Amino acid sequence: MTATEPGTASAAEPAPNPNDVPITVNGRPVIARKGELVIAAAQRIGEYIPRFCYHERMQSVGMCRMCLVDVDTGRGPALQVSCMITVAPGMVVNTHSLAAERAQEGVIEMLLANHPLDCPVCDKGGECPLQDQSFTHGPGESRYIEEKRHFEKPIPISDLVLLDRERCILCDRCTRFADQVAGDALISFSSRGNNTQITTFPDEPFASYFSGNTVQICPVGALTSKPYRFKARPWDLEQTESTCTTCAVGCRMVIQSSHDELVRYSGVDSDPVNWGWLCDRGRFNYESVNSGDRLAAPLVRDGEELKPASWNAALARAAELISAAKAAGGPASIAVLGGARGTNEDAYAWARLAHDVIGTPNVYPQMGDGVQINVLGFERATIDETASATTVIVIGPDLKEELPVLFLRLRDAVLNRGTRVIELVQKRGGLTPLAWRSIEYHAGGTAQAVAGLAADGDIVAQLAKGNVVIVAGRANLAEHPREGGNGVLAALELVPGAKVLPAFRRGNVVGAIEMGLIPGEGGMQALQIAEAAAAGRIECLILLGCDPLNDFPDTDLARRMMAGAPRIIAVDTFITKSSGAADVVFAAAAYGEKSGTTTNIEGRVTTVAERVTPHGTSRPDWMIAVELADVLGGDLGFGSVDELTDAIAANVAGFGAATADAVRRATDGVLCRGALPPATPRALTVEERNSYDYRLVVGRKLYDNAQGTAKSPALAHLAPGAAVHLHPLDIERVGSSDGADVKVTSKRASLVLKVVADETVVRGSAWVPFNQPGPNIGELIDATQAVTDLRVESF
Ligand code: SF4
Ligand code: FES
Repeated sequence: MTATEPGTASAAEPAPNPNDVPITVNGRPVIARKGELVIAAAQRIGEYIPRFCYHERMQSVGMCRMCLVDVDTGRGPALQVSCMITVAPGMVVNTHSLAAERAQEGVIEMLLANHPLDCPVCDKGGECPLQDQSFTHGPGESRYIEEKRHFEKPIPISDLVLLDRERCILCDRCTRFADQVAGDALISFSSRGNNTQITTFPDEPFASYFSGNTVQICPVGALTSKPYRFKARPWDLEQTESTCTTCAVGCRMVIQSSHDELVRYSGVDSDPVNWGWLCDRGRFNYESVNSGDRLAAPLVRDGEELKPASWNAALARAAELISAAKAAGGPASIAVLGGARGTNEDAYAWARLAHDVIGTPNVYPQMGDGVQINVLGFERATIDETASATTVIVIGPDLKEELPVLFLRLRDAVLNRGTRVIELVQKRGGLTPLAWRSIEYHAGGTAQAVAGLAADGDIVAQLAKGNVVIVAGRANLAEHPREGGNGVLAALELVPGAKVLPAFRRGNVVGAIEMGLIPGEGGMQALQIAEAAAAGRIECLILLGCDPLNDFPDTDLARRMMAGAPRIIAVDTFITKSSGAADVVFAAAAYGEKSGTTTNIEGRVTTVAERVTPHGTSRPDWMIAVELADVLGGDLGFGSVDELTDAIAANVAGFGAATADAVRRATDGVLCRGALPPATPRALTVEERNSYDYRLVVGRKLYDNAQGTAKSPALAHLAPGAAVHLHPLDIERVGSSDGADVKVTSKRASLVLKVVADETVVRGSAWVPFNQPGPNIGELIDATQAVTDLRVESF
């Protein structure tokens, strides 16, 4: 580059950006971007071109013709479909010319020729682009007087979505979403001309984890969701932006209520996180908040029975139990488990209560069912960095089942951004068809499988090509939690500069860890707490919104823990197997009933909102902590959520930027990284597998027995149920057949389960979904062992 004379005009003017494309829209000069569509460039300067089929997050198809505008590229103005034409230098666009307006009116008139106009009873009425654009861009009256077409209405196309074919304007949004975004191309156009309609394939329902998104993006009321249908009208909805905390992706959404009841969640387009999408579990589990089974008031045990009590009586009883435990075994004989389902504020208040007021170091946010917390100590990747990396190594669960929208982002990365995924699997999953390499291995062999990557020249060359992100989670609940951490360490040895995206699963588990719901000096983790309680060394167990009898992978140990703890205090929204065994149960406010902040897997702190009044007299967890501290003679010093958020910003390392005000103002939240030390290696002794046995792999399905799902009628029946999945050749080997009952036996116990022929299971492994209706696989798992082996016998 030659130096320019100071003071000359060229020194003052920056070099033109080769990606800038100057155009004119409605007389205003606009610098558009190379490759940008006219419809998008116009929108950026506030010129909204009407549209039905165009969607920013999907490929344009030009199906509806609503976005016709006048475009002049030097040869005189001509009508063009603005969602299909990219900007060119000097282009002159007129969105309001007489020709454009007449064309748009014509399109509306055509669309309404067959549209049934059931707006007064249609869910979409009041928020319907067709209704709105008929007013703003329609002709005012129609020339069509013919009978409209009729279809049976509505027909279910899935468990959650209904289709009203008469209303469909054939914009191809739902079908494109299913195919391009979700990868579940289960809905399609059929027939031709006047009879063209959306259909599912014969005997194949639209069974997609993402079906609710089609309802949200349908520009008319053709697709409606079963749970919301006829529940409310847009004008009686009140809404607040919030973050989904069902899993730890942290999708942004609005939560909507009518008459103080949650009635709908809709995705919000957060560019670094969810791009507007939600999974169906996150979208529809608001039903559990409205459940009639919710706890309305605290309960205190009276002999065999838990009886409703006043808050004062419950707090006094809990304080009594804690003091008695302290007197019997000292503060360290009290253990606090859970806390990953609440807000950062809930977790921080409970961490202060546990560590400072009660004085116990034994605090743990997971149930021995997650990846070890110190994977947070590695250099962390964001979701964006992961979804644009050259290579992503996945050592963990099936992301489609556990972190569904992260799966969508990775799917996009592979299909549209050239990312290559190397996954290590004990059972092939949702990502497998997209993976560049799927490396099969057996439980207990993660680090060796990772180290084995070095023997493949192609993989080594790929890893050297650009940035690498390791997604680190818990691949198998029947193997030691340290497996994941050991695998990451092996991967970092292979690619020292790689970043790590921790694939924690529970809503705010990262927040709970960062807020201090982790062991203090000499404190115990979940497994050690369970063993100590089983051995009678825990005098009081506090369960913070957790249900170890359901969620702890080793059910026998969980049972012995519960039986061995003489005093149990629970904070919960429902009576569960575990909270039902407590001496005091505090009724907790649920999601949507409390405000605060939450932290997702990448460390993004965003708001969660209170939209409805807490059920009965239930209270947020943080308030229970403050009141309990008070009764115990300690003062946590917080009177409001904002005070707590600001105390977190002032006191928690790495969270300084996340003040209440800053989080509220930042559209996409504030990235915060704590100060946990990285995981260190620890060798695990894995016994050789007897060649007649099968190594147990226990994984999660999106739908299971979790309260949020089980108490949501629309979702409850979607849990697939317990069964043992074996490779078809292994089923033959045990002399059984698909669908038959088999007896599975570990060192712990035996169960009878249905066997399912499943080619995705690695030969020599047996895969069983966790926490499902039916026999409980947790009975067979010994959490103290590196792996669990099973004998499978046919009858
Ligand atoms: Fe909620 Fe996770 Fe689903 Fe997003 S992916 S909607 S955070 S459950
Ligand atoms: Fe452009 Fe439909 S929005 S053709």
